Amino acid sequence: MGETNINSLFDLQESYIAFVNQWNNSYKLETGHIRKAFCLTMGCQMNAHDSEKLIGMLQEMGYEITQTENDADFIIYNTCCIRANAEEKVYGRLGWLKTLKKRNPNLILAICGCMVQQNEVVEKIDKTYGFVDILFGTYNLYKLPELLSERIKTSSKVRDIWTEQKEIVEEVPTVREHKFKASVNIMYGCDNFCTYCVVPYVRGRERSRRREDIIKEVEALALDGVKEVMLLGQNVNSYGKNLESPTSFAQLLRDINQIDGIERIRFMTSHPKDLSDELIYAMRDCKKVCNYLHLPMQSGSSRLLNKMNRRYTKEQYLSLVDKIRHEIPDISLSTDIIVGFPGETEKDFEETIDVVKKCGFSSAFTFIYSKRPGTPAAAMDCQIDEETAHKRFNRLLDVLNTSIHNTQETKIGKTYNVLAEKESDKAGIITGRAEDNTLIHFNGGTDLIGNTIPVKITENKTFYLIGERI
Ligand code: 5AD
Ligand code: SF4
Repeated sequence: MGETNINSLFDLQESYIAFVNQWNNSYKLETGHIRKAFCLTMGCQMNAHDSEKLIGMLQEMGYEITQTENDADFIIYNTCCIRANAEEKVYGRLGWLKTLKKRNPNLILAICGCMVQQNEVVEKIDKTYGFVDILFGTYNLYKLPELLSERIKTSSKVRDIWTEQKEIVEEVPTVREHKFKASVNIMYGCDNFCTYCVVPYVRGRERSRRREDIIKEVEALALDGVKEVMLLGQNVNSYGKNLESPTSFAQLLRDINQIDGIERIRFMTSHPKDLSDELIYAMRDCKKVCNYLHLPMQSGSSRLLNKMNRRYTKEQYLSLVDKIRHEIPDISLSTDIIVGFPGETEKDFEETIDVVKKCGFSSAFTFIYSKRPGTPAAAMDCQIDEETAHKRFNRLLDVLNTSIHNTQETKIGKTYNVLAEKESDKAGIITGRAEDNTLIHFNGGTDLIGNTIPVKITENKTFYLIGERI
């Protein structure tokens, strides 16, 4: 991957943006209507951030963004394939899109993201859902204006799926969901090849963005009113290793900590095997780096961790948690756990329960193992039957809920600085997050959104806390 001239790559899209914009403009003049675009995002924060770029480009092309598919002229699904149910959801909706397309033959449909990086998916869409106009994958998202122009000019199907990243394209227009917080990609791809995971196949090899480009982006965000940045990568702890001038994630945190206007720095995801002392010290020392860490354990059984190719043991995970808590005593930890990995015995599962009881997580994402074609785990013996996996999953939830409840209980009576994010479902109740990522609800008006408010915790609802402004 060359590092020269990266920005000019997006410049090439400008003429396509202008073309679609004009096409939409003439339609508006003729009909009095503005064409609308709908974007559905599935999966992780990386995809959510990709969709902010899709929406940014769609707006530049003159589309109005709509929240319903029914009145859309352009529909795009940004897909996920980490578990089978994410894919099934897309196929389910595609059946319904067929009726929409019949009703409105001018409707343009596009599917992009992780699912499209799998050959068998592209074959299935072409065979069963041939009415989908545009397909592209994870590596060339910035080409949406070009692909859409091609579809408009030729009226034929457009497929552009790359098998690897050719370059990192900077400065794609982005529309942020919140004015006061933003996500920033610091790296793409993953080299870890955990045996259950499809990400390395659909997101490619690890590529770090240049330090200067990241700093420049965060500085611009700060000037635009952003207070909180979320640094994104599949494994941020290995950031910078392959750059022309190698650097570390800890150093990047220290650099971003210096940027005026930024008040909070978050990041995800951290692989336990790469979490260095240097990073723990940077988290401890940098005032703006939040006292929160998402540290996926996946399993508490060293035997299964080995089969998962995670490259740490139960004991190493536990001592890492101890070390982090020793340096940053008020840190909140969250985790990811997979239940029902091939060959999981009752004893393996109990090891997972044991780690959960010991770690005092503040939240957790739990998953039933899903067989992903092409991954080593899919070919392993002793796949766990659904009933056993479900039973274990429910037992895990019981233990987790008690543990999370107890962790949250210690927060009652304390005061947290909450960045107010939005009005909750109930009018007059604002929800926001403390620095340690605790979700907090409190009384207040929408004028508080985007401000940091001191809130004293009065009630523990396990998955969120209730507090009062002081
Ligand atoms: N089945 C179930 N969960 C999975 N994850 C990744 N791949 C799978 C799979 N095949 C989970 C892991 C990861 C999170 C993002 O998704 O826990 O950390
Ligand atoms: Fe998947 Fe493992 Fe990479 Fe995370 S670290 S994206 S679980 S392969």
